[in-house]
Amino acid sequence: MTIINIFFSPSGTTKKVAEIMSGNFSQEKENCDLLHFQSEKELSNDDIAVVVMPVFAGRLPKTACERLSKIKGNDAKAIAVVNYDNAHVSDALLELVDVLSDNDFNVVAAASTVSHHSIFDGVAVGRPDDEDISKINDFTVKCIDKIESNESLKADIPGNRPYTDYKQLPFTISCDESVCAFCYDCVNVCPENAIPDDDPVATNLDICSRCTACISICPEDARSFTGDAFEAKKVDFEKANSERKEPEFYL
Ligand SMILES: Cc1cc2nc3c(=O)[nH]c(=O)nc-3n(C[C@H](O)[C@H](O)[C@H](O)COP(=O)(O)O)c2cc1C
Repeated sequence: MTIINIFFSPSGTTKKVAEIMSGNFSQEKENCDLLHFQSEKELSNDDIAVVVMPVFAGRLPKTACERLSKIKGNDAKAIAVVNYDNAHVSDALLELVDVLSDNDFNVVAAASTVSHHSIFDGVAVGRPDDEDISKINDFTVKCIDKIESNESLKADIPGNRPYTDYKQLPFTISCDESVCAFCYDCVNVCPENAIPDDDPVATNLDICSRCTACISICPEDARSFTGDAFEAKKVDFEKANSERKEPEFYL
């Protein structure tokens, strides 16, 4: 039996939530990082999957969802979690539970957790904080009890089918050529291959999902969101989402 941490975490907070949760299990752990992992994979029915995905515009990130769909559960138990930034979860948690169930995972519990925003850095600063971590740990202990007693998910998951349409954010990601070290880390991490390997300063904004992996990985801080549309939205968004939201748990 192995605890498989499955996550897609361009700026690192989703991975952090997965690791907090799996830290409560005593069994051997394995990470399946969907920023890089895009092969087929089969779990055993005695494995336990901790699956944590960020919310992108009320949905699961499309590339992450496609990669997750290649992992077959074979009746492995799963805890389904979406990580969002204090704005809205919309249909993302329902979508995650559906994708896992369709792929033959036995979903025993679900949650939405709150983390620091990867685009608007004034929202949910410092989260998950100690209060969040304590709630996530309590929830995981309850999940372990459910897994041991062979129970499935009973609670209703919020959200609607059909899910809200995918939306591409209209913001520009730029690279400051004067500080770029041409290390190609951004080229290698981009899940959409939107940064050409013969021109790492460029970004194909038609296919870029604005996931922020290139910004997070850049050792020179050369990449960032820029432009009037971004600056204008940042002020409004940070004001509208300043009130603290709490993680929610479904057993
Ligand atoms: C393209 C994009 C869209 C996002 N859309 C939403 C959203 O609809 N609702 C929300 O609450 N947070 C949204 N977020 C915030 C992320 O869900 C949040 O910052 C998450 O913690 C990022 O995970 P990471 O640190 O693992 O990359 C969005 C972030 C990105 C990059």
